[in-house]
Amino acid sequence: MRDSEAQGHWRLIEFPTIEQFEGCLTFLEGARLVPFEIKRVYYIYSVPLGAMRSGHAHRNLKQVLVPVAGSFNVVLDNGSRKETITLAQPHVGLSVSKMVWRRIEAFSSGAVCVVLASTHYDEADYIRNYDDFIAEAKLR
Ligand code: TYD
Repeated sequence: MRDSEAQGHWRLIEFPTIEQFEGCLTFLEGARLVPFEIKRVYYIYSVPLGAMRSGHAHRNLKQVLVPVAGSFNVVLDNGSRKETITLAQPHVGLSVSKMVWRRIEAFSSGAVCVVLASTHYDEADYIRNYDDFIAEAKLR
């Protein structure tokens, strides 16, 4: 496992883009630039001004967030390090490993966040309480 894919990590991924006079095309491939086989795709959109999404961590799920339209901020926290990353370019995604507390905020009008996920939906994989997250992160 690459160091950046270890739990509690995140990194930006620049996806290949074909730029033509008629417009741009960006592609993502599971298990290549996306560091896992893609099992699920969902997207967050029509977010009201000032609303915040997420506010949880995942025990095993890995994700890549892609700002296919507009921009938003991702606030990341692995229990010992915090960082806020602005995603604003459709060809630059954010890979988030397991055991990272994240919040998504400051959505621009019309923003669309596409999320590529390594597993099917499983509510048991969520840690929705921050104190529980810190306790589990310390145990690992
Ligand atoms: P949640 O992951 O909490 O949303 P966000 O991180 O954007 O704030 O999911 C919101 C609701 O949608 C929650 O009731 C679970 C449900 N959901 C599914 O049923 N399937 C899915 O793949 C996802 C991501 C969420």
